[in-house]
Amino acid sequence: MKKKVLVTKNLLKETEERVKKLFDVKLNKEEKPYTTEDIVELSKDCDGILCFGTNKIDASAIDKLSNKVKIIANYAVGFGNIDIDAAAKKGIVVTNTPEVLTEATADISILLLLGASRRAYEGRKFAEEQSWSWKTDFLLGKQMSNRKLGILGMGRIGRAVAKRARGFGMEIHYHNRTKLAAHLEEGAIYHDNIKSLFNNSEFLSINCPATKETTNLVNEQSINYLPDGAVVTNAARGDIIDDTAMIKAMKSGKVFALGLDVYNGEPKINPEYLKLNNLFLLPHLGSATIRTRIDMGNRAIDNLENFFQGKKPKDQVN
Ligand code: GLV
Repeated sequence: MKKKVLVTKNLLKETEERVKKLFDVKLNKEEKPYTTEDIVELSKDCDGILCFGTNKIDASAIDKLSNKVKIIANYAVGFGNIDIDAAAKKGIVVTNTPEVLTEATADISILLLLGASRRAYEGRKFAEEQSWSWKTDFLLGKQMSNRKLGILGMGRIGRAVAKRARGFGMEIHYHNRTKLAAHLEEGAIYHDNIKSLFNNSEFLSINCPATKETTNLVNEQSINYLPDGAVVTNAARGDIIDDTAMIKAMKSGKVFALGLDVYNGEPKINPEYLKLNNLFLLPHLGSATIRTRIDMGNRAIDNLENFFQGKKPKDQVN
């Protein structure tokens, strides 16, 4: 008999077809915004859940989940939305979708760096008004080429950002919990602490996972370690930046410009940000290409399929 799986959001056609072939699925075709309680309720008769990074499944939800649920397959590389320890304690396997979104997310990091440093938001507004004139000092930005780029989180995505940034002649600096092997560093300079990394980050790209340790890592004190007029971008998770401190730094010019794809409490955005011109923002588009989203769907389904066949899923994270 097919295993029963709750799918919490609408899927791309290709993914839906495959998931329907393999499992008895409860789909969310109308894309109802399921709350944590809805997920607990709707999964009562299910063997597994295919959910998304925006679905919060915390310890209390895990506690309330039916004992029938044995796997939560997250359609995202980040899994800060799920309490993986609570899941492990209850014998629930959690999986994510690494690798397949590395390139798309690294592309978005570069878009954020360029969009913020070259004032794309203000540029768009002027272009729409059609009243600008070419002047030598009009909308001058910061040039990435041959500058120092700090990468906070040199995992797969951070390294893919580094690869692209080398094409701009940038000098790569990074901070990770541990220094990478030389073949992964490819000449990038390791900093074992935030102060040293930020001191060297004329441009800073945030690509680390959201964990207890990284929450508000970019805060009033650490922002002060940046060179004056730094450009900061975040394609990881909103929780890593203390918004109040960042807004203050953007107003003072300490931070020349900020590029964001992710937000604390998204889709809500701190309203103070929206008053600032030196912000280039996107609505969490990191993995939003057709190819990547199909690959993410397949990866999540592979994990479910392997698990139900009694194998250890490739992307188990707990
Ligand atoms: C996207 O934000 C992801 O974690 O996959």
